[in-house]
Formats: sequence, C-alpha cells, structure tokens
Amino acid sequence: MSSIDSTIQRITKTGEGETCAPELADGPWTFDLGVPSYGPGASMGDVIPTGAPRQGQLPLEYQKASNEDLHARIIAAKATLGDRAVILGHFYQRDEVVRHADFLGDSFQLANAAQTVPNAEAIVFCGVHFMAETADILARSDQAVILPNLAAGCSMADMADIDSVEECWEQLTEIYGTEPDADGRVPIIPVTYMNSSAALKGFCGRNGGIVCTSSNATTVLDWAYERGQRVLFFPDQHLGRNTAKKMGISTDLMPMWNPNKPLGGNDAKSLDEAKVVLWHGFCSVHKRFNVGQIEKARAEYPGVRVIVHPECPMPVVDAADEAGSTDYIQKAVAAATEPSTFAIGTEINMVNRLAAEYPQHTIFCLDPVVCPCSTMYRIHPGYLAWVLEGLVRGEVINQITVDDDVAEPARIALERMLAAKPPVATKEA
Ligand code: 13P
Ligand code: SF4
Repeated sequence: MSSIDSTIQRITKTGEGETCAPELADGPWTFDLGVPSYGPGASMGDVIPTGAPRQGQLPLEYQKASNEDLHARIIAAKATLGDRAVILGHFYQRDEVVRHADFLGDSFQLANAAQTVPNAEAIVFCGVHFMAETADILARSDQAVILPNLAAGCSMADMADIDSVEECWEQLTEIYGTEPDADGRVPIIPVTYMNSSAALKGFCGRNGGIVCTSSNATTVLDWAYERGQRVLFFPDQHLGRNTAKKMGISTDLMPMWNPNKPLGGNDAKSLDEAKVVLWHGFCSVHKRFNVGQIEKARAEYPGVRVIVHPECPMPVVDAADEAGSTDYIQKAVAAATEPSTFAIGTEINMVNRLAAEYPQHTIFCLDPVVCPCSTMYRIHPGYLAWVLEGLVRGEVINQITVDDDVAEPARIALERMLAAKPPVATKEA
C-alpha cells in the first residue's frame, strides 16, 4: 500500500507525477504556527476566518518520531486504554491514521458510532472540527471528544458563519413573512449540511429546520418541503443544487445567496419565486473536478464507471454515471462483482485506499494532481500518539465542547434528521 504521504514524498523527490503543493511533504506541524491558514492542499487558496481554532506546537518528540515508532506508541497507548477510548476515522484520513481507527466511516456514520460506545470516556475523532462538535452534541455529557489537531477545520463549513446566516434569515423572513399557506406550510425552512458549525445546527433547531448529510439530502429536503414552501440551504451550494435538481426542481428557481451583496445578490422577484435559496459555499476538494477530466477518462477507459461526490459542481455530477456520499462510493466499489474500472471524484486518500483494497479493479482519481483535503491532512499519527498518551497519563488534550445553549437546539435539528431517516449501521474498520 502506498500511503498519500509516501506518494507526496516520491513526487516531491522524483518529479514523477504532480502534487498541488510540495509543502505537503513537510509534515502538518510545520503549518500549525505562523500565519493562520488552511495549510497546503485543496483549501490553500481559501481565506481562513479570523479566530478559527489553531493548534499550538506539537511536542518535538512526536514531530521527530518515525512512522514505525508512532505506530508502536499508538498501539501501546490503545492497549493500555482498552475500551476507555474509541478512535473514529473518516474515510478521508491518511492510512497511517485509519489503521488505528475502531470505526471508519462517513461523517454521519461516525456521529452514530460515537453513541454506540457507552464505556468510552474519550472519543478521539480523526476527522474535522464540525464532526467532533457533532459527536460532542450526541455523546453523553461525561464523554470527552478529542480532535487531535485543532487546526483540522473545514473551509466549506467556515464559509457560513452564524452572523451572516442570521442576517440572511432576517431579510428572507421580511420578504416571505411568517404566515403558513393553505396546506400549513411555513414560507421557508432552514436546512444545514452536516459540514457546518454547531452554531448553524443550533440555528436550524431554533427555526424549525434540520440537518442533512450527503447520504440523506433528498430525504431531508422531502421532509422540509412537507413543512415549508421553500428551503434555505447552507453552506454547500453544490450539494443543495444537485439534490434539488435530482428532485425535479428547475435551476431557475435556485437563486444563490452571497452574504456580501444586498439581498444576497438577487432581486425580490427571483427570491419570491425561489424553491431553494443556496448559500454560496463550496468544497475546494470537490471543486477541482471538471467535465474535461470525465471526458478524458471515458476516452482512455471505454466502459469506465464514473462516480463523484455530490459536493462536485452540477455539470460534473450531470456528466458522471453516479453521484453519492463517501459511503455510497465505498459500497458501489465493494459491490462490483466483475473486474471494473472506476474513475472517482472525491478526496485522494479515500480513492487510493479503495484502489489498494480492491486490486481486481482499476480505480483512479479523476484529478491526476495529488491534492488532499488541507484540513483532513492536518491529522497525522504524531498528533494521535500525543493525545492518546495524554489520556494514558489522565490528561485530556484538545477537547471539543459545545456549550449547552447551542448544543440543545443543534441536537433537535440532528434528531429531526435521524427521525427523517434511521441511522445507517456503522462499519467497523
Ligand atoms: P461525508 O458526509 O460523505 O463523509 O463527507 C464529508 C465531507 O467532508 C465530504 O467532503
Ligand atoms: Fe471540508 Fe471539503 Fe475537506 Fe470535506 S473535503 S472536510 S467539505 S474541505
């Protein structure tokens, strides 16, 4: 198995292949200090909000340790902790982290996994900040959720802040009023993608809204349209657009809201006719995929099956054979009985792992440039060893806590989602 780290080292040293940022070879701790940024990788061009959580210096012994040493230390710490600690790993994590995960899955499955470990005092979330917040909202109050590197945020989640969304909501409710129609449907329902801050989930809980993930977005939008005439969908414009289009809604009825412009950059008529108002956010990993890459894959591999994540822009989703969440992609590959060729439009760590796990298939990433998610990349086994050895000493490092006044309404919005569609079973790594 060739991990993403060794692939990037090889590209940097030999010039064979291309990586979006040679700095990826330096080790994530290099970017914890200095000017705040998302660091190298797909989000390196995005502007990080002031006040985004930062990670202090990782103790030098973990920076300098070899991968073998860190591997052995993590195993030893896990053995000492037993079921007092559980490690959750998102599909986009590097292999050196995933191999220690008790559960591997998408953000929704991992949130549920956190609830299935009653003996765990600590939930170590190898993913990004909004996932750890969600785990804390759903976990028991005496369980500590730990994010090994506090700089592991999400550039898309950061594109919608609570103040801008509150301001947008105020303007929209002024336009639409608050009176239900003859069927009892309120004028507008807020829907937030799981990839958002706890504050936004709380906003949805307080305003009759709901959370969705990429695996249940259609079910959730159905839920919303049963109760409302239209939807405000944030932060990901692409997931919102792709899902609404799949449900038969015309793209003419999907104005986009840019919080930096009056009325979000729209006129009153288009807002009045809207079926879904889309926040302007996007994922810089999935924005890298384009129709040209799909055409090239089809020309080079006749019969190729193109599967992309619904965070990709609409023309990419339209040109692909299928679109689905990380779990969908994983299951589609696992279910293929005949040797097949898959061109996949999602994060490179996951695509490379699928290629290694299923050697009977030809599996490659649509984007030939190796460009991981900048923030998933910030979790390295050095941080995992650090927080686990902290737990062995009785020290909780990098705890993520959501205050009750936010957690309570956020839990309501999450529970509405869980009730709209029962949880998918978690998958053990
Ligand atoms: P999933 O919900 O499919 O795990 O996706 C999370 C994510 O961050 C995709 O970019
Ligand atoms: Fe956020 Fe995109 Fe990274 Fe997912 S892949 S964590 S949406 S930046």
